[in-house]
Amino acid sequence: MAKEPKITVAVNVMDPAKFKGDLLAISLLEDTKQLTAEYRELDRSLNSALTQLLKLGDFKAKPNETTILYPTGKSGCPRILVVGLGKRKDLKLNILRQAAGTAFRQAAKLGAARCGLALHLPAAPEKLDPEQIAQVITEGAIFGSYNYKDHISTTSDTPKTSAASSLTLLEPDPRRAAKMKKGAAAGQIIADAQNRARMIANRPGCEINPPLLAKEAQKIARQADLQCTIFDEKKLAKMKMNAILAVGSGSASKPRLTVLKYNGRKGLKMIDVVVIGKAITFDSGGLSLKPSEHMESMKFDKSGGCNTIAILTAAARLKLPLNIVGLIPSAENLPSHTSYRPGDIITTYSGKTIEVQNTDAEGRIILSDALAYAAEMKPKAIIDMATLTGACMVALGHHNAGLFGNNDALKLQLQAAAQFSGEPVWPMPSGPDYLEQMKSKVADLKNVGGRPGGSCTAAAFLGEFVGDVPWAHIDIAATADADQEKPYRTHGATAYGVRLVLEYLRGL
Ligand code: BES
Ligand code: ZN
Ligand code: ZN
Repeated sequence: MAKEPKITVAVNVMDPAKFKGDLLAISLLEDTKQLTAEYRELDRSLNSALTQLLKLGDFKAKPNETTILYPTGKSGCPRILVVGLGKRKDLKLNILRQAAGTAFRQAAKLGAARCGLALHLPAAPEKLDPEQIAQVITEGAIFGSYNYKDHISTTSDTPKTSAASSLTLLEPDPRRAAKMKKGAAAGQIIADAQNRARMIANRPGCEINPPLLAKEAQKIARQADLQCTIFDEKKLAKMKMNAILAVGSGSASKPRLTVLKYNGRKGLKMIDVVVIGKAITFDSGGLSLKPSEHMESMKFDKSGGCNTIAILTAAARLKLPLNIVGLIPSAENLPSHTSYRPGDIITTYSGKTIEVQNTDAEGRIILSDALAYAAEMKPKAIIDMATLTGACMVALGHHNAGLFGNNDALKLQLQAAAQFSGEPVWPMPSGPDYLEQMKSKVADLKNVGGRPGGSCTAAAFLGEFVGDVPWAHIDIAATADADQEKPYRTHGATAYGVRLVLEYLRGL
């Protein structure tokens, strides 16, 4: 198994012209007319290459556009990578995050190990605070450096794609640098956790199954200040968690419920937030088998669970003053002679019964046990993340996750956090009308409600298991993995939602 590359991050009070390393990343705005004092100094060391770049207009500085300069002067760096930031008026934290991602993705391709980054923000907009800037560029750089190549044989003509080993943020003003140190430290914890989630989510079904995922969570928990308890199939049976057991019944790899606990409020038992993540290590659809086209992407059906591991780990590393529980219900959904069947009726942990009409609508079934178990803890909020419905992809495409829930204040808090984290969520309806579609003739609920409003009916179903605890559900079916590369990130698992939930927790 490939080892996680670790990038060390530092903030140095230094002029960019003085940086000595393998690559210096700098930025330009589309409407840059005049260089700042530090960039003028850098320009001098580059024999006016920047002035020339601006004059020729070859480089438009559109967001994520890049060009490389190879200095011949006495600059300390063999490569200067220039990244565009777009127009100053449109500059947002997420543009900075992406620009850093773009720069560090390029750095990895070039095999540049020691990288410096100096932003050019003439008259930086006041709203952008140095601590936040440092956080988001650190997040972007580490996120952009990640590459999934565990199974690619190394040959002499394999492109170089090893992540940078160090990132130095260059800031000549000592007061700004002090604030940036704080932001960079948080950004590093958050991005490392997110990449860890991506690393696990990218693993194929032949490498990871519910018991192995639970073990991975346990290993990570030991390294952080987290308690970890694994409910195996015997314990699940004793607990009457029949929903998780039913979904996992077709596979030789037995289901698990992993419980992670972070106690940041020493001496206080009360739980602030329970975070839940769907972790189907492979979703074939079960006896209601999926079509074979794109079935391979169902290895990502554990993304919510991987996010949950990352969120709990980062919460502990950030030492958040909160008590947080993470629940990872996990099963492999396969067809076999032991599988659960359409027509089966499951008595869930809550006592409510579910008629199975389609074994491919399994996420909501495993979540029913986890949500009811979470509600018993009487937390202030429950947040679940799940690759739940293809219907959410139809509704929102790949650019927003669906946000559902029973509490407007909680939803607003999550929307604000998503704005900051650059992982947008769109509020979606749910409630009694949608729930009607989930009523069964032979049980309390059925697990499918027809095509209309498929993600909304799924959310209405989940809402039946949380009682009156404030709850939000984030449907990440269309955002958890990406076929296409972007300048700022590779293909595969995105761990969408890790930064978002962490920002929400940091704001409590
Ligand atoms: N894991 C899928 C949802 C999914 C679909 C995630 C596409 C990512 C991309 C889920 O378990 C599922 O199969 N849902 C069904 C529900 C239907 C049978 C009611 C779906 O969305 O088609
Ligand atoms: Zn399914
Ligand atoms: Zn699924």
